[in-house]
Amino acid sequence: MPSELKCFNPQCGARYAITDVLYSCAKCGALLEASYDFDLDPAALKKSFRERRMSNAPLDVSGVWRYRELFPFLDDFSPVVTLREGNTPLLEGPIAAEYGGLDRIAFKHQGFNPTGSFKDNGMTCGVAQARALGMKRVACVSTGNTSASMAAYAAAGGLDPLIFLPHGNISFGKLSQALEYGAKTFQVEANFDQILALVRTLAERVGIYLLNSMNPFRIEGQKTIVFELLDQRDWRAPDWIVLPGGNLGNTSAFGKALREAKLIGLIDRMPRLAVVQAEGSAPFYDFVRHGGDFRAVENPETLATAIRIGDPVSWPKALHEVQASNGVVERVSEQEIADAKAQIGRCGIGCEPASAATLAGIRKLTAAGVIDRSADVVAVLTGNLLKDPDYIYRYHTGKLEAPGGVPIRSTFANQSVVVPNDAERIAELLA
Ligand code: F0G
Repeated sequence: MPSELKCFNPQCGARYAITDVLYSCAKCGALLEASYDFDLDPAALKKSFRERRMSNAPLDVSGVWRYRELFPFLDDFSPVVTLREGNTPLLEGPIAAEYGGLDRIAFKHQGFNPTGSFKDNGMTCGVAQARALGMKRVACVSTGNTSASMAAYAAAGGLDPLIFLPHGNISFGKLSQALEYGAKTFQVEANFDQILALVRTLAERVGIYLLNSMNPFRIEGQKTIVFELLDQRDWRAPDWIVLPGGNLGNTSAFGKALREAKLIGLIDRMPRLAVVQAEGSAPFYDFVRHGGDFRAVENPETLATAIRIGDPVSWPKALHEVQASNGVVERVSEQEIADAKAQIGRCGIGCEPASAATLAGIRKLTAAGVIDRSADVVAVLTGNLLKDPDYIYRYHTGKLEAPGGVPIRSTFANQSVVVPNDAERIAELLA
């Protein structure tokens, strides 16, 4: 099946070989995407995806490569590095559903991935392409999760990982992962958007392969989050898929996955996408809601550091996907994120702050009548609870402050109690 890279700008539409090392169109500068002439039998595909769950072959065990016909950019699979990514559960959360104004909600929890976030779905593909191209050094700018994931896959695949992070604005959970996996880690005194510009320049100068989400092969891997959730629902499309928006790579991947699933005949209707941003870092929300030119937020702020991005690279793709799915964009406050997160925790599920923007957004969208109470909703939790324990401890002890020092109410606080080593006294407390 022929595959190529295609310029995402419909006025340009330039095409390149799938093996060209390009992150944007050489003619017009727009984003690129992998493009295929799919000629697939949906019933046969569904059957083989299901059969692979009985197999012990690494490519079949991977919740990404199990769906390999849906992103056929490799000639052979020898460059693949798999840590058995994907395979993340769909979990019912009745307490969260009630809080979000829904009868039911299912969480697709990407925090169950090998490095604890959805980035692993894309990284296994990005690193496979890096190896297929014979690259030795890979690099990314990250708010934390991409770097943790890239470091792990690069290490497992014998590549040299270089990581660039915004100094002081990354959780220790994520930084520690990058260090432990052996990545060379630079903390730059600038924000995410500024560092991304810097690293794009560096990539050209010193010959490193960039694995940020404008890398089209990462997007191909992230499509499998949608394929797997549809497979887990026996290919019944939900009404809504809700996800947080930062650099908007995931929104682009989800929309592409849904369009392709519909085209191939794996689903018979498109779910609507709802993208949720943090109020202090919400340029995409502003643009979609208010129109005009796309305007970056110069100093993005949010305690949900994973989505602290003011100039999201993938906004043109994300716009297309939100429109193609008749989707919406919402924004939520720091307080709303913190409380929604605690409610997800009370379901026994838990997640990192950026992920909780989903439930906070759902609560607003149901209150506004955009999402019906009876709607069939899947919210994607993008990262594991243990990514940012500091935030959780502060919330439950009443010490969480929004950027600018505004205190966040610990609406659902759960403080630990210090007790003497005395059974009598503890029994009294429990009476
Ligand atoms: N949720 C989490 C936990 C993330 O780490 C990110 C992005 C997002 C949501 C937003 O996804 O960028 O595709 O819209 N983290 C990137 C990183 C930017 O560097 O780890 P997006």
